[in-house]
Amino acid sequence: MTSAGGPVPAREPELAGQTVVLIGGSSGIGLETARRARTEGAEVVITGRDPGRLRQAAQEVGARQTAAFDVGDTAALRGFFQDLPGQVDHVLVTAGQPRYAPLLEMDPDLVRLTLSEHVILGLAVARSAVGRMRPGGTLLLMGGTGGRKIGQGLGIASAATAAMPPFVAALALEIAPVRVNLIAPGFVDSPLSAKVLGDQLDARRAELRAKLPIGRVITPADVAALAVHIMVNTALTGATYDIDGGQQFTSA
Ligand SMILES: NC(=O)c1ccc[n+]([C@@H]2O[C@H](COP(=O)([O-])OP(=O)(O)OC[C@H]3O[C@@H](n4cnc5c(N)ncnc54)[C@H](OP(=O)(O)O)[C@@H]3O)[C@@H](O)[C@H]2O)c1
Repeated sequence: MTSAGGPVPAREPELAGQTVVLIGGSSGIGLETARRARTEGAEVVITGRDPGRLRQAAQEVGARQTAAFDVGDTAALRGFFQDLPGQVDHVLVTAGQPRYAPLLEMDPDLVRLTLSEHVILGLAVARSAVGRMRPGGTLLLMGGTGGRKIGQGLGIASAATAAMPPFVAALALEIAPVRVNLIAPGFVDSPLSAKVLGDQLDARRAELRAKLPIGRVITPADVAALAVHIMVNTALTGATYDIDGGQQFTSA
């Protein structure tokens, strides 16, 4: 059988001529997004704390530039964006980690920190980056669907997760025409998950394969594909994108 349409024309890379900054680009979701952005023709700048890991990641993906600093250091963050040559198009923030502890046992300072750190971090990046970002580009922050389930042991994590979608929508109005969006993954099979789960990792993967409607585990490459789509599609702002293979609707 022959195709009536003839050969499909090769498409242009979707991020050609654009620059993507990955705050937390040396591992997991950030590293895979750097890789995918490169295949779509972007130049990438990656950051992280560990200079060795950063160097290796930069070589792997052909990063234009790296910078080693803790994103919680506001002066270093501001300096990083000030020193970047030229404008950037997109910024993905994957630095950070969840904190789970029973509410009654949590130190009040840790409660305050856990409740606010994602919002404060997103805002600090927005303040530092917005003057360097081109209109139409997106700031992409990370949330999660796991925290939406109220469950024993999740503690304040669910309340902290709930703050992110309205925060991102409000920020999108304030810094327009730069766009702001939130990615909310479930379990992602990344080095972070491996570190958190230790020798429980294989059992968790097996459980997810059995229970998720998609019948497989989400990888950093899956999240990277979504991140690049949000960068490319200039209709998207103020929105939250779940990527959890249906996990939130199951007991997994
Ligand atoms: N994996 C999951 O199942 C999952 C699910 C929902 C949400 N998320 C969220 O998605 C984000 C990325 O997760 P991932 O699985 O890709 O993690 P990952 O593999 O550990 O990668 C995290 C990256 O961020 C950097 N980083 C971490 N803390 C930093 C800090 N304070 N300052 C600067 N850089 C920092 C890390 O490098 P250095 O350590 O060298 O700094 C690394 O490059 C996290 O915010 C996580 O909470 C993950």
